[in-house]
Amino acid sequence: MARHLITSAIPYINGIKHLGNLVGSQLPADLYARYNRGRGHEVMFICATDEHGTPAELAAKKAGQPVAVFCAEMHEVQADIARRFGLSFDHFGRSSSERNHVLTQHFAGKLDENGHIREVEEKQVYSIDDGRFLPDRYIEGTCPNCGYDKARGDQCENCTKQLDPTDLINPRSAISGSTNLEVRATKHLYLKQRAMRDQIETWIDSKDDWPILTTSIAKKWLNDGDGLQDRGITRDLDWGIPVKKGDQPWPGMEGKVFYVWFDAPIEYIAATAEGTDAKGQPDSEWRRWWRLDEGAEDVTYTQFMGKDNVPFHTLSFPATIIGSNEPWKLVDYIKSFNYLTYDGGQFSTSQGRGVFMDQALSILPADYWRWWLCPTRPNRATASSPGTISSNR
Ligand code: MF3
Ligand code: ZN
Repeated sequence: MARHLITSAIPYINGIKHLGNLVGSQLPADLYARYNRGRGHEVMFICATDEHGTPAELAAKKAGQPVAVFCAEMHEVQADIARRFGLSFDHFGRSSSERNHVLTQHFAGKLDENGHIREVEEKQVYSIDDGRFLPDRYIEGTCPNCGYDKARGDQCENCTKQLDPTDLINPRSAISGSTNLEVRATKHLYLKQRAMRDQIETWIDSKDDWPILTTSIAKKWLNDGDGLQDRGITRDLDWGIPVKKGDQPWPGMEGKVFYVWFDAPIEYIAATAEGTDAKGQPDSEWRRWWRLDEGAEDVTYTQFMGKDNVPFHTLSFPATIIGSNEPWKLVDYIKSFNYLTYDGGQFSTSQGRGVFMDQALSILPADYWRWWLCPTRPNRATASSPGTISSNR
């Protein structure tokens, strides 16, 4: 009996997900989990809500709720819809869990011990009208790489390039729209992934069966300009996992939190532990899926995600795992998807554009959607024939 660890990209907490999110990660992951269970294999299928960072804060603000309350409620809403869609997660966790706090701080401590972290006095955009720093999605502007005019401070959704807020052309505050911005100095931790570049490239090159969409995006950012860049893994925000070295304070980092993209993939591991905790099982039960020295040698690990998630899963998260120098399980196969489009454009949670999972279920039972979405989903290696939902069909 083979053992399959399967994860779906963990959806942001910022609202009910649309069918584009569903077909790009959760649904194909579910099909693969069901298939493997049907073959008689042992399966651990994990998903969670991604509860930190600016998407969570902005959505809570819009809902007029404290962010912790918003996240707790929206987690239940997403969990219920997932159930009604027949998504057969073994556990649907929360990235804000105590398990994820401990594991994230553990990884940061190990990375520091192994010399993979440096402190950087960096320049961040400060909004005078909002009275705060504007990391990541708190700022929008034009992408310097492709010219897309709704690029966010952390990434351009259009060309997948990872960005820094100061890279944006014509930047504006996502909170107030204000352009009354200035650049201020603040201290942050950087993950020295540049120094791990060759190790990561060797690992990616060893995966000769990966889909071209996955490897082409990974290769693109490995070789972009002068190569893989070090990335800031901390932020000036209130909501998130406090920056600590293991369980020790991190001098100079008081009041800061880890960047959402640092803690979110670690939640794959944490959610597995949340699941075994919920069943009252001992730690050895989740560790046998994740620790090569405790039984995970014979696990096959497959990840599912939309194409914008690929750089984080092929470069940043492996850098965290490899840099820890501990025997954690690395992914074996990454299945990535082009975007499903809606009436010729992109689905968007923040802009309320598309068919959302709750609306879909109020129109037809889940199996109709599942059956129809499978062949419709864009699963090719190129963007030449992406799936499209047309509103006049
Ligand atoms: N929340 C992200 C999104 O919806 C995905 C996070 S995947 C993880 O695009 F690896 F970080 F967990
Ligand atoms: Zn771009």
